[in-house]
Amino acid sequence: MSTYIFILGKHPDLSIAELKTRYPKADVRRGGDSFAVMESELEIDQAEFNRLGGSIKCAKVVGESDMGNQVDVLSDVLFSHYKDIKLEYGLSVYSFSEKQLRPILLKLKKKLQADGVKSRFINNDFKNISAAQYKSIKEKGIEIIVAKTNQAFLIGEVVGVQDIDAYSERDFDKPFRDMEMGMLPPKLAQILINLTGVSGKIWDPFCGSGTLVMEGLLMGRDMIGSDIDSDRVDGAKKNVEWLGQKAEAELFTHDATKPFKSDYEAIAFEGDLGIPHNQHINSDKLNQIISDLDDLYVKFFENLKNMEFGGPIVAGLPFFRLRNGDEVDMSKTVEKIESLGFKSTALLRDKYVLKYSRENQAVGRAIYRFQMS
Ligand SMILES: C[S@@+](CC[C@H](N)C(=O)[O-])C[C@H]1O[C@@H](n2cnc3c(N)ncnc32)[C@H](O)[C@@H]1O
Repeated sequence: MSTYIFILGKHPDLSIAELKTRYPKADVRRGGDSFAVMESELEIDQAEFNRLGGSIKCAKVVGESDMGNQVDVLSDVLFSHYKDIKLEYGLSVYSFSEKQLRPILLKLKKKLQADGVKSRFINNDFKNISAAQYKSIKEKGIEIIVAKTNQAFLIGEVVGVQDIDAYSERDFDKPFRDMEMGMLPPKLAQILINLTGVSGKIWDPFCGSGTLVMEGLLMGRDMIGSDIDSDRVDGAKKNVEWLGQKAEAELFTHDATKPFKSDYEAIAFEGDLGIPHNQHINSDKLNQIISDLDDLYVKFFENLKNMEFGGPIVAGLPFFRLRNGDEVDMSKTVEKIESLGFKSTALLRDKYVLKYSRENQAVGRAIYRFQMS
């Protein structure tokens, strides 16, 4: 059994829900305001970490300290990596002030020197290690993190860091992009896939440019993507080809309100959002948009009911932010979906909906998971 520290992204509840669903046998709990602690039989390495969208960094716990013996524990951990050449390391701290880094790093350097270890820390200005810095030291050195829980300081060796360059390449360099319809951030696509809790084939019935299909393929799954707009399906095909993965994707034009039976185990999608993300609108226009979307989603779920689909359905439905800061969501539509017999299942403890949005976005996504009861 190993213990891991996961540094959580900007939507910590979603990140924890993702961990709990992807690792159902593990014990996942909140460790501090910025991290979760997971005890698991599973080995987490960079390849496994790359399949998560909601965590920024992962470290395997190798020790524990209190305030008094922190430097001793850290120097023991670093010493175990010393191989007679200059040891390069970085140190990051979580759930306590980054200001503590300076005294810890300076004392640690002295201690290592006294023990005859040639070392160099790579922290810039005594700040936490960035993803780019981690990339540069992971071949020849190590990043250690110290995470403060209520009981102790957990000391961990970093085993995975979010590859921000790879995300941005997938997001911005793919051949087909369509800002008008809004595209799913790849990280959120991974979260939606993990929240299904299944390991088999997934259908995205509103695939647009194919973000969710692409992320599924990278996670090693066979994927199905369809969309009512044939130009978007063509674009999704180009994107999938560009990705060049071995796993299979079926992509075709299809109206999601019409029957489609195949061997998919779960459905995951970001549905139609009605308007682009950055377009604030007034409440009159919004009523019309919500009414159109309500019509679409109710028909879509009626169709799933007729098809007798019993698997999990992870849905990113839009919510709208008005200029005055008020939020309008599609909870009335959710009630209609539930009255069709689809139960909304808890994503985390008693939370049935978790929101994902960037600052100043006029449209965010409210994430639900439904299943026919
Ligand atoms: C917000 S976009 C999805 C974007 C996609 N997640 C991506 O990352 O590119 C919503 C998509 O729903 C599609 N759509 C709208 N009504 C539909 C329907 N009845 N059946 C299938 N697709 C539909 C639109 O054509 C659009 O591509």
